[in-house]
Amino acid sequence: MKQDLMQYHTQYPSITDLKRKAKKRIPKFAFDYLEGGCNEEINLFKNESDFHQVTLMPQYLKKYQGVDMSTELFGHRYDAPVGISPIGLQGLIWPNAPEILAKAALTHNIPFILSTVSTSSIERIATVSEGKFWFQLYHPAEKEVLDDILNRLQATGCQVLVVLVDVPSFGFRYREIKAGLSMPPKMNLNNVFQAAIRPEWSIRTLKHGIPAFATLQKYMDKSLNMAQLGQFMNATFDKRVDMDKIAAIRNKWKGKLVLKGIVSEQDIQKAIELGADGVIVSNHGGRQIDAGESSIKSLIRLKQYGEKIKIMIDGGIRSGPDIGRSLACGADFTFAGRPFMYGVSALGNEGGNHTIALLKSQFKQVMEQLCCEKVTDLRETLISVP
Ligand SMILES: Cc1cc2nc3c(=O)[nH]c(=O)nc-3n(C[C@H](O)[C@H](O)[C@H](O)COP(=O)(O)O)c2cc1C
Repeated sequence: MKQDLMQYHTQYPSITDLKRKAKKRIPKFAFDYLEGGCNEEINLFKNESDFHQVTLMPQYLKKYQGVDMSTELFGHRYDAPVGISPIGLQGLIWPNAPEILAKAALTHNIPFILSTVSTSSIERIATVSEGKFWFQLYHPAEKEVLDDILNRLQATGCQVLVVLVDVPSFGFRYREIKAGLSMPPKMNLNNVFQAAIRPEWSIRTLKHGIPAFATLQKYMDKSLNMAQLGQFMNATFDKRVDMDKIAAIRNKWKGKLVLKGIVSEQDIQKAIELGADGVIVSNHGGRQIDAGESSIKSLIRLKQYGEKIKIMIDGGIRSGPDIGRSLACGADFTFAGRPFMYGVSALGNEGGNHTIALLKSQFKQVMEQLCCEKVTDLRETLISVP
């Protein structure tokens, strides 16, 4: 029997419900890692609140033939215009989270992006997703590592390569610093206590094994202690990405190429010049520059380039109306990070399916209410922006 892909648990009809439940199920250090932004968390706040100022207008008397949420992107027709953003150290937040989400994304036919520093490997995610996954690359410092990762992606059939450009320095994140969670993770006494009072998380973590950077393990000396792991991360990745580095990747990578973290006109013009296929307008979920603007405001400035390159957005999307608002403001596609991790932390194996079904159901209702048949019709509904 075909599973009803719109079915969600009625106890958790909003992302806020999932977040509340997640907070009770995972240790405080893991929740702070997931939830936090940088500095005073102003940009984190604006990512959500600026969405509330985008308003849309229905046309009730329009002839209406029914809703079609499916969206074509890079030669694939997805069931809905929403995907799962890359999150590092996912297995620290909930054991096995990357696989739970990759499987749910496959079931629902939406994109899942694996982070370079996630806790499942490229090969494992390729298997569970039947080759239907995207990969987010932190630019390796060594050419051999870069070439090897690109070869692994090619061999496993990765659909889209997403190069991250918005981490030239590590964000100043108070919550992570206090929790001892600046890369690499440290388990101090306080964190051990926080884990002990979340027994289900602790038992599952013990069963699943201490989370590690699975994709990168083959480049690491097995005997690295935690402090050396930090040095490895710093030595392995070029934080700053430039035109030459991206041009070299564009030359080698024959698949679709997306730059993530684009917020300026200058950078989107360079992305077009470099032959990138798309950009994700993103401020890393408010984790890098507190003085920055919200993602939705950046999108509104950059939508003029939509004829030349696919424009996607993430940051602050918490509902079906937010997906609708993004498309109305010119996005071709949307992504979300924290909402899916709240879902998995709250509901374990069921969390991926639940969160996707919930966002799809909410978005479908928005389209029906606004009398939009196709996702591109949303552009005609925009009344006001922040
Ligand atoms: C805990 C956490 C870890 C993240 N790790 C990565 C990462 O490894 N690579 C990356 O490109 N973005 C990373 N991001 C940013 C997300 O991909 C995404 O841009 C952000 O979560 C979107 O905002 P939202 O959470 O409000 O949806 C991370 C975000 C969070 C919250």
